[in-house]
Amino acid sequence: MQKIYRFGLLFIILSTFVLRAAELEIGPYLQSAKPTEIMVLWETTAPAVGKVVYGLAPDQLIEEKVADAPSKFHKIQLSGLNPGTSYYYQCQWANKTTPVYRFKTAPQDEWQSIRIAVLGDSRSQPHIFSRICQQIISHDPDIVLHSGDIVADGRQVEQWKPQFFEPAKELLHRVPIYPTPGNHEQKADYYFEHFPVHGDDLWWSVDYGSVHIIGLNSLEDGSPGSPQYDWLVKDLESNQHQPWRIAMFHHPLFHAHPRRPVYDIRYHWTPLFNQKNVPLIVAGHDHYYLRTHPIGSFTEKNQRSVHIISAGGGAPLYDFVEKSYTAKAQSVYHFMILDVTPEKIVCRAIDIEGAIFDTVELRADGLTPDQGYIEYEMFELERRATFAVANLAEHQPKATLKNYDTNLVIPTQFQVQLLGSYYWQAPENWMVAPAEKTLVVVNPAEPLIVSFKANVLSPQMTPAPILKIHLEVAPASAETTSDAEIRARDHFINNKIEISFEQAAFSKMLSSNDWQMDDITFFFDFFGNSEYGSAALNHLNRSISKRIDEGGLQFLDEFLARFPGPENKYRLYPFYFLEKEYQHWDEWEDLAEKFAPYHIDLPDRMMYRISQHADINAEFIRDWWILGPFPWNMTTSLDTAFIDERSINFSGDYTSAHGNVRWQSVNTTERGFLDFTQFLEPAQNVIAYAYATIEAQRDGRILLLLGSDDGAALSVNGQQYFQLNIGRAARPCDDIIPVNVKKGRNEILVKVAQGSGNWGLYLQLLDKSGVVRK
Ligand SMILES: [Fe+2]
Repeated sequence: MQKIYRFGLLFIILSTFVLRAAELEIGPYLQSAKPTEIMVLWETTAPAVGKVVYGLAPDQLIEEKVADAPSKFHKIQLSGLNPGTSYYYQCQWANKTTPVYRFKTAPQDEWQSIRIAVLGDSRSQPHIFSRICQQIISHDPDIVLHSGDIVADGRQVEQWKPQFFEPAKELLHRVPIYPTPGNHEQKADYYFEHFPVHGDDLWWSVDYGSVHIIGLNSLEDGSPGSPQYDWLVKDLESNQHQPWRIAMFHHPLFHAHPRRPVYDIRYHWTPLFNQKNVPLIVAGHDHYYLRTHPIGSFTEKNQRSVHIISAGGGAPLYDFVEKSYTAKAQSVYHFMILDVTPEKIVCRAIDIEGAIFDTVELRADGLTPDQGYIEYEMFELERRATFAVANLAEHQPKATLKNYDTNLVIPTQFQVQLLGSYYWQAPENWMVAPAEKTLVVVNPAEPLIVSFKANVLSPQMTPAPILKIHLEVAPASAETTSDAEIRARDHFINNKIEISFEQAAFSKMLSSNDWQMDDITFFFDFFGNSEYGSAALNHLNRSISKRIDEGGLQFLDEFLARFPGPENKYRLYPFYFLEKEYQHWDEWEDLAEKFAPYHIDLPDRMMYRISQHADINAEFIRDWWILGPFPWNMTTSLDTAFIDERSINFSGDYTSAHGNVRWQSVNTTERGFLDFTQFLEPAQNVIAYAYATIEAQRDGRILLLLGSDDGAALSVNGQQYFQLNIGRAARPCDDIIPVNVKKGRNEILVKVAQGSGNWGLYLQLLDKSGVVRK
């Protein structure tokens, strides 16, 4: 009895303590809005029993729903609500409350108009993302769709609050959000746990008003026969009754990135979306806005989809290239507002300042202007022609790949007869036939046959020939003119194809999941010096990582024995270091001096992973003196001296346009970040100095690993080793800077420039040979 009493007392004391400690961590936010239900979620710093009180007016929160058990992560499902109705709610736990917020239930009827906000790629720059959220709030949407890349690394739990839940909190209090995962979410459990729209699945669909919304997962297999594809077919077939279907996922089917490949899901999903009547497809991943012309069946122009990339939610913007299918593209921070009625969807793209820069209207009756219509079958032909060109190698022994005499047989899907021509555009080092336009007729369901007779005249394969195809609809005779032919003949926009040999070989390499040494060496033997050589090497990195996991470094040994160029060694030696094999370290440091800091990119985050190894003496420099701010902007050279950099006076006053400034002694955060915004003001269009010293036991070379926000210039003992004027976010180890140190004290001086937003640096010392430390 006494035991039970003591235990009970202990429980009361402990739980009181725990309850007192429970502060709001994230939220509240909303999920699963239905006509009569909604889910309210929030997180507290310690477990507590959560409760939601709610009602039709802010001062009448007369209903309540209490959780069954204490938890840090509160998920409370409210039911029995009225459709299309605004409710006020408050979250409560352990004597704590949130302010009163408002949510709205989904409409019961399909005829009611709804407003959907769409955004993507909000990661990494919360100061931009928060402005986007403010703009979205001003449009008062019913729901928000997010196509992924919500944070920089979804596995890092500590990123979710500052990069997503905090900047978006005002929006999330009132509007349910439906996300699909991006590559940056890294398939993290955190993502799936926090967005119950997924249920237990990797993809989802929901109904809201007149729309059936499908959230696919472009990180998972989407090919015919895969669980995702089968699910999608079933979901589309059983949801044809709603006026609209909208699909969302992260990787776009039609993008305009200068280097990224076409993802295979283009060929798996586009025909399905056309056949099953999905007129709008939104994606992210490429950080700009792009709207395509309607893309769909050549002869059935009412089966069409507009594809929109809306990836301007905060991540640094990208450039784009011209594509035949682009109706509008702009590299700009933005989001979209879709106003949906059963008759039409009006899509507006709105920039961070609130200006509308693109509008398109989709009509439920399927009518779209013929102008700018893009024929999907030509993409299929292009894909199959690319395979055929890439497979030319198989017509002869790879070692003697110099002469060709063959026909490419390329299957087609056209339903009307086409006429056209093709030829090979040959560079000087090739003799190719036919090099003149050769007429072809393509009958429905028959292949296009392309002849290729060629000799390479020099030891170099590159540049290699380009296959050019041009097709037109055959003029119909009076008796055979069908509606389909007439429709197809008008406005045949997408009627040209160009395939370069190198690009085809490169695509084949990219699309092969299970690389054989033979395929890789074939590509590098013949096309390693092509414009795709560098991209191929980058792609190789990923494959190598996998190979190392499976079979050790032998694969890499073999590759480097055949292709021992210095660039290959610089890029690939770090894979040995990852495995804690350091035999190439000194040679690699020499190469780093030759190529680094930024002439050749290393595999993403490679040095960061290596710098985590304890046995190579990697350490953040944590104790700094800083001085600033001085006025600065992007047009000011980082060579500019704002003080006498050769003779620093740590106790003196310096004059800046921002007033008198003095050196101050500061420390980095626990994670090694020197955050200037904590110490210096103003923090916009300025620059500051950071100074540190290191003691070396002897003369020698070390590596400094730098990450800066924004650009930086770094010198050691008065000699400048690095300078990069750029707007960027700080990540540890973005730049590898080999520097010479002398025995005794060495002075490091870094100038760190600042446009706006975050401002600071990481500097890590990597001392493999023990110059500084034994
Ligand atoms: Fe992405």
